[in-house]
Amino acid sequence: MLLARFRSHLILCLVGLMMGACSTPMTASPNTPALVQRPVAPILATADAVDTASFARPQIARVTHVALDLDLDFATRRVAGTATLDILAADQARDIILDNRGLEIATITDGAGRPLPWTVGAEVDGLGTPLTVTMGEARRIIIRYRSGQETDALQWLTPEQTAGKRHPYLLSQGQAILNRSWIPTQDSPGIRQTWEARITAPEPLTVVMSGDRLTPQGEPAGPGRRAFRFRMDHPVAPYLIAIAAGDIVFRELGPRTGVWTEPAMIDAAASELADTEQMVEAAEQLYGPYRWGRYDVIVLPPSFPYGGMENPTLTFLTPTFIAGDKSLVGLVAHELAHSWSGNLVTNANWSDSWLNEGVTSYFENRIMEQLYGPRRAAQEAALSYDDMIAAFADYGMESSATRLHLVGPDGSPDGGAGGVIYDKGALFLRTLEQITGRERFDAWLRQWFDNHAFQPATSAMILADLRANLVQGDSELESRLLLDDWIHAPGLPANAARPDPAAFSHIDAAVAAFAAGGPVETTAWAGWTTAERLRFVNRLPRAMDQGRLALLDESLGLSAIGNNEVLFAWLKLALANRYEPAVAPAEAFLERVGRRKFVLPLFETLLGQGDWGQMIARRVYTRTRPGYHPVTSTSVDRAMAATPTD
Ligand code: BES
Ligand code: ZN
Repeated sequence: MLLARFRSHLILCLVGLMMGACSTPMTASPNTPALVQRPVAPILATADAVDTASFARPQIARVTHVALDLDLDFATRRVAGTATLDILAADQARDIILDNRGLEIATITDGAGRPLPWTVGAEVDGLGTPLTVTMGEARRIIIRYRSGQETDALQWLTPEQTAGKRHPYLLSQGQAILNRSWIPTQDSPGIRQTWEARITAPEPLTVVMSGDRLTPQGEPAGPGRRAFRFRMDHPVAPYLIAIAAGDIVFRELGPRTGVWTEPAMIDAAASELADTEQMVEAAEQLYGPYRWGRYDVIVLPPSFPYGGMENPTLTFLTPTFIAGDKSLVGLVAHELAHSWSGNLVTNANWSDSWLNEGVTSYFENRIMEQLYGPRRAAQEAALSYDDMIAAFADYGMESSATRLHLVGPDGSPDGGAGGVIYDKGALFLRTLEQITGRERFDAWLRQWFDNHAFQPATSAMILADLRANLVQGDSELESRLLLDDWIHAPGLPANAARPDPAAFSHIDAAVAAFAAGGPVETTAWAGWTTAERLRFVNRLPRAMDQGRLALLDESLGLSAIGNNEVLFAWLKLALANRYEPAVAPAEAFLERVGRRKFVLPLFETLLGQGDWGQMIARRVYTRTRPGYHPVTSTSVDRAMAATPTD
């Protein structure tokens, strides 16, 4: 009886292809000894939900739970062990297709240890290879494997690359499709999975992951090793499984917030992050309860390729946001906001990354407003608007890459890491907010999160939801919102909210005065916020002579400034003008920092400066490349290769 009910439910899930059809807990494993009830999130089967960046065919067979049992081997720089996958599949399904990139597979068995046949298909550029397992009637499979020699997701750091200089370090980055290089599963954001892990590491390293920590102190695991166990009971997109291991310590920030980092960094990190608990409270007041239990962060070594990554329960952060004055904590607000937009409601595929990044950028700004007031929020929104206009100029206003819903190659998995989706996506929501009023808009956004919690989403779904729950049949309002334009058309819709003209009027006046040949106003600069300084440097004339650059540099101390965002903005300007005294600081910066957002544009700027810059770029890159995460080095490699040597 029970089985029959499950079977018909399964058919509903797999064939009915209805949203929410799989929302009741179920299990589907003849090899599972006990009936384990796990929540299963639905698979969207509409055409726009199909993920072309994954080999998986979830309508036939899909992974519902991943159990990892892995050793971290710092000598060989590999993870090795087993991944046990629980599978939900149509009755007649006999194969499951997983995503794989360079994994070295030893054996695959069913839950009873019987070997199963498997094949690795042809490589598809950028995606890796399909791993097809002939599971027969088994609904649990055990893969014994190790990661390949090069993994996109994992970076193994030497002791020299850490602050403490004594112990090695491991960090991972899963988004967008990098986790398939260390976890054999279906690596698609629409295929949510619960997971658990047991990880062993050499003492004295501590392992942390993006889930509940079950073994705070670790457990003995043979001579000189400890095991750490974790679990994530909410179904999450597999790009959100993350790991870090190193000589790290924890400090509490609030009742459910805390920070991990190396001992040498803990004081600076904790004081920069002192407002984290308040950020969680502000976010909850805005858009509903934080559903992940703890919100901890880890401040990683500077080779981490992103500013931040929203790994559930444990945001990963670059140390470059530490400025001593909390001026760059918008990054933390951003990653926290992903606990709703991204981790709770997740883009079904990478052509709708704006649903993660654009909605999050809007939410980030609302948290900043709540904590630091409307003026700072308005300034940060104006900076974002400028970035968007600059990106439009780069791509061309009519370029398809300036859409929110990205089509074809524009929507490739890495497309969302840069481009306009952050700023234009945030501006879209800000525009809706201004037209409908904050109260009505906030109620809409909150219900969007609630009604799509733990589910994948697409542009078509948010459009339908906006019509049903924000517009509500008001045709006059509908015509003012230009919803389809915002999501599908390139460039900027006519109704776009403009940034507050007062936010930076004093800064723009200072830029104009300097551009007209005036002096540097050092006293004014000393009183400016980081946002104001960024506006000033970014709005300076792009072509300047050496004398004016030297005047700026010497009077404001730009080449030695401690704020990495301001330093980066300055170095870009200085190198684009072949300002020689900026070369040494740029080189030091490129050696110290591996964040792609900083590293790639600086190399691109140098490569755009003829022989002068290309020689510097190649010389510096030869030295700094080994320290970069593959995310960064792959991008810089590409930029280098696109610049012909003579
Ligand atoms: N989720 C992103 C990072 C990401 C995006 C990785 C796409 C891979 C593919 C993260 O939340 C992010 O947006 N980071 C930004 C932070 C910023 C906008 C405040 C970064 O790293 O700079
Ligand atoms: Zn983000």
